[in-house]
Amino acid sequence: MSEPRKILVTSALPYANGSIHLGHMLEYIQTDMWTRFQKHRGNQCIYVCADDAHGSAIMLRAEKEGITPEQLIANVQAEHSADFAEFLVDFDNFHSTHAEENRELSSQIYLKLRDAGHIATRSVTQYFDPEKNMFLADRFIKGTCPKCGTEDQYGDNCEKCGATYAPTDLKDPKSAISGATPVLRDSQHFFFKLPDFQEMLQTWTRSGTLHDAVANKLAEWLDSGLQEWDISRDAPYFGFEIPGEPGKYFYVWLDAPIGYMASFKNLCDRTPGLDFDAFWGKDSTAEVYHFIGKDIVNFHALFWPAMLEGAGFRKPTGINVHGYLTVNGQKMSKSRGTFIKARTYLDHLSPEYLRYYYAAKLGRGVDDLDLNLEDFVQKVNSDLVGKVVNIASRCAGFIHKGNAGVLVAGNAAPELTDAFLAAAPSIADAYESRDFARAMREIMALADRANAWIADKAPWSLAKQEGKQDEVQAICALGINLFRQLVIFLKPVLPLLAADAEAFLNVAPLTWNDHQTLLSNHQLNAFKPLMTRIDATKVQAMIDASKEDLAASQTDTGGPTGNGELTKDPLSPEIDFDAFAAVDLRVALIVKAEAVEGADKLLRLTLDIGDEQRNVFSGIKSAYPDPAKLEGRLTMMIANLKPRKMRFGISEGMVMAAGPGGEEIYLLSPDSGAKPGQRIK
Ligand code: MSP
Ligand code: ZN
Repeated sequence: MSEPRKILVTSALPYANGSIHLGHMLEYIQTDMWTRFQKHRGNQCIYVCADDAHGSAIMLRAEKEGITPEQLIANVQAEHSADFAEFLVDFDNFHSTHAEENRELSSQIYLKLRDAGHIATRSVTQYFDPEKNMFLADRFIKGTCPKCGTEDQYGDNCEKCGATYAPTDLKDPKSAISGATPVLRDSQHFFFKLPDFQEMLQTWTRSGTLHDAVANKLAEWLDSGLQEWDISRDAPYFGFEIPGEPGKYFYVWLDAPIGYMASFKNLCDRTPGLDFDAFWGKDSTAEVYHFIGKDIVNFHALFWPAMLEGAGFRKPTGINVHGYLTVNGQKMSKSRGTFIKARTYLDHLSPEYLRYYYAAKLGRGVDDLDLNLEDFVQKVNSDLVGKVVNIASRCAGFIHKGNAGVLVAGNAAPELTDAFLAAAPSIADAYESRDFARAMREIMALADRANAWIADKAPWSLAKQEGKQDEVQAICALGINLFRQLVIFLKPVLPLLAADAEAFLNVAPLTWNDHQTLLSNHQLNAFKPLMTRIDATKVQAMIDASKEDLAASQTDTGGPTGNGELTKDPLSPEIDFDAFAAVDLRVALIVKAEAVEGADKLLRLTLDIGDEQRNVFSGIKSAYPDPAKLEGRLTMMIANLKPRKMRFGISEGMVMAAGPGGEEIYLLSPDSGAKPGQRIK
């Protein structure tokens, strides 16, 4: 046996201003399964997390609720902890970034960076709310788009025409907090000199720490040159004051990742033998992994390793990035009832159903994962209830009736137990590399073999025949043993099922290596149903409840990220340049736009692309109920799409629009001056 590994694992710290939803749970369940797998294998693996408690969003929300930020974050922490516990997410510590350990570590890291010359200061001119007496982040300023004149747009981009701009370009700006007209004001800001770490990052991001797709995305930023990162905010702000700089606070994203260390420190301080430096010191031989979503890669794979390097700590071993959760093929939506809070799910369904479904669909890449609710019901019922639990329920009765619950010795099908044994390394390898989907597929293939063998032996027919009792006992004893193997393999995903199975099997908590042995001459306990089928009406009830309980709450799935520095930029799968070059993108003039009789979603567009006119059907009517208004406007079209025959005629291309759907569809447009027919490159 090799030495147990020392591993520290984290999930991103959830914002303390909102509830946990099933999108978040994808991350925490994934991390938990990986951590449990490591522990199952006998490694030392420590999983820490915390609430991300700082920032102006939290300050403002507390104010709105008439409580202090401290009260707000305490309430939210209790709620988050309960949600995670019920989803069987087994943190070794769940702390808060608003904690003494974090204040100390943040100061220490900042001072080391400053003393090493990695901090710059300069004056920044920003909008200031004279009523609230505070500087306004871009998202707290609203005004009229300087490009298209649409009112009520946020300070950095227009939802209507897609233009991006500085908040100072907005016409008629207003504070989104007080409604006051903001004034420009200067203030001293502190910057982390990220460009100092350009070379280190170039190497580090390509050293096996990241999935290739992620490293490629980062290369775009790295190659275009890194910018200094604004790490300070002016009072009033809920966070840590910068040492020696009264009235200046660390920007939330500065102390958030340090919160990983702080949570671990807090655990070390009350766990004998757990040494902080053994994990975070420059010479640490431990492994450190961060599990995160694709929206926060720049913070974890650029800023964070640079901060650690600059302050004399070790850097992470790996950043494991996952995609976003969609439900029924679309972004989670309140109106469709698919924006499902962890609590709402738990009110209706068992956590292990979701854990298994996520496992069955999670690969190692950054692709989005779709929770298709029909498939969810079908897959869980067929795999877990129909295949795994079924083996135990088929066999247990015969053993209790025919042999007082004792498994006989022997092995009725060595070829089967050999196959199970042979599959174990590959299953372990799939777990290790976070290819949970492959692990589940391989485990279910074993379950299929076990079921087929039992069906073939048909102990239920033998039991009715004279003199076949020994054979029945031999078959069922092996059946129970194969069930036990499956439980061992599934335990990181299904810890509750495993605990119930251990009680039924009358064994100590199972570990991975137990798959190498079989139970023989062994007394079982009474069999109780281990898992019941998902009732589809419960899924519907969850959807209905989600429609109700989210009607009044906040709208996004994330929180505040940045102020014009590198911000959230979800990754998409890559395509070759050739694939891109093959697309004939053109500027198109909408000559005519009209509703299509008998089609409630479609508009018929007549598009001028210079040398010809095209007829295109587009499903954008919900956003443009008055289509004539589109006439005379420029947009973009894919001109070499294969013509498609539709009920109403032939569609000769496609126009480009953004947004989730419904009223939120935004047709793309080039800047004015573009000519119909011009190619987009
Ligand atoms: N507070 C920051 C993280 C700081 S880490 C030092 C944050 N919080 S969050 O609450 O918005 O998100 C927490 C994690 O959940 C992130 O990794 C994020 O990617 C993930 N998810 C949030 N919504 C998600 C989906 N819809 N789908 C999958 N993961 C999602 O970002
Ligand atoms: Zn606009």
